Amino acid sequence: MSPRAVRTVRFLLTGLGNVGVPLLEILRSRASLLMERYRLELLPVGLADSGGAAVSPTGLDVAAVLAVKRARHSVASLPGVGRPGMSGRALVREVKADLLLEATPTNLKDGQPGLDITRDALMRGMPAVLASKGPLVLGFQELARLSDLESPGRPPLRFSGAAGAAMPLVSLGRGDLALGKLGRFEGVLNNTSQLLLSRMSQGQSYDAALKEAQALGIAEADPALDVDGWDTASKLVILANAVMRVPAVLSDVAVTGMRGVTREQLDTARAKGGQVLLLARGEPLGEERWEWSVRPTAVDASHPLARLGPMEMGAVFRSDLHGVNTLINAEQGARGTGAAMLKDVLEIFPD
Ligand SMILES: NC(=O)c1ccc[n+]([C@@H]2O[C@H](COP(=O)([O-])OP(=O)(O)OC[C@H]3O[C@@H](n4cnc5c(N)ncnc54)[C@H](OP(=O)(O)O)[C@@H]3O)[C@@H](O)[C@H]2O)c1
Repeated sequence: MSPRAVRTVRFLLTGLGNVGVPLLEILRSRASLLMERYRLELLPVGLADSGGAAVSPTGLDVAAVLAVKRARHSVASLPGVGRPGMSGRALVREVKADLLLEATPTNLKDGQPGLDITRDALMRGMPAVLASKGPLVLGFQELARLSDLESPGRPPLRFSGAAGAAMPLVSLGRGDLALGKLGRFEGVLNNTSQLLLSRMSQGQSYDAALKEAQALGIAEADPALDVDGWDTASKLVILANAVMRVPAVLSDVAVTGMRGVTREQLDTARAKGGQVLLLARGEPLGEERWEWSVRPTAVDASHPLARLGPMEMGAVFRSDLHGVNTLINAEQGARGTGAAMLKDVLEIFPD
């Protein structure tokens, strides 16, 4: 039997921060596994950050890219391949590639720059894998129509990392539970708020706990997104659209952040063997109507997420066919998001 042919996938990556850099590191450390197991070579032909881009049709030197990002410079400063001022959108429009990986900051006002970048990629027939939530929260229905999610034959759109980092919420909900009628959904979907609430219930100050989350690279660039509940609400909106298949938008979610949680509430919950969680909740009301909320919620010892640790996220799916499935994920920084994106890539380019 002849060996399977090697497939080379030329990719663009927009955003080289807490997610983009580990993604490149994983690609480098797992390159031989990708080759052995999947006969897949992933070749970076265009990368963009806020200062510009770097482009090479024969593949960029990942070690040089990582060195320049560790030194906190733009890839646009790389000799020979750097393109100062070239935007992510221009990269997608001008550079020939087989795949877009999108990891620019989440912007919940207009979804940019990720929304335009993703839209352009899909319109050019390029599959897209997103870590950024903005394009999905603000443009899910449009992007679904431009992609295989709603239009057979259109390029694939995947976003496992956007909704739950390494926690396989989309795969489980959309895939494994496919034919079930889903009941109440509950989730702790934001690392930073869970770390803060846990540390504060152990007596640590809000500021010290926030510094820890920032040092771990799990806090959003604007931590208000985490503590005020908007990151959690964004993920809930993505799950609503992708898993519950309801066209929800951010304003459908009643959002209360964790800033108002008192020591007394934390102590009372702890005394009962539970804890206060920043809980995302979806409650089916019938006829495809759901009620969505994010709010600090005291759960007692009997709740499936009562024992969630400071570095853990979790979710509970209830289905008439599958019963109760509880996921708990202890994530190692933002690496899990990169890993989830690569899982999506393998789904797009199957063995
Ligand atoms: N961190 C996590 O654990 C996590 C988990 C799941 C999903 N996400 C999502 O993944 C995305 C990336 O998160 P992150 O933590 O990696 O953010 P980050 O550390 O702030 O990195 C953002 C990257 O995007 C670049 N950038 C900013 N504006 C840009 C523009 N207009 N065009 C092109 N590049 C631009 C930045 O450039 P510079 O390098 O020049 O600053 C940086 O490289 C976000 O949407 C976030 O919500 C993050």
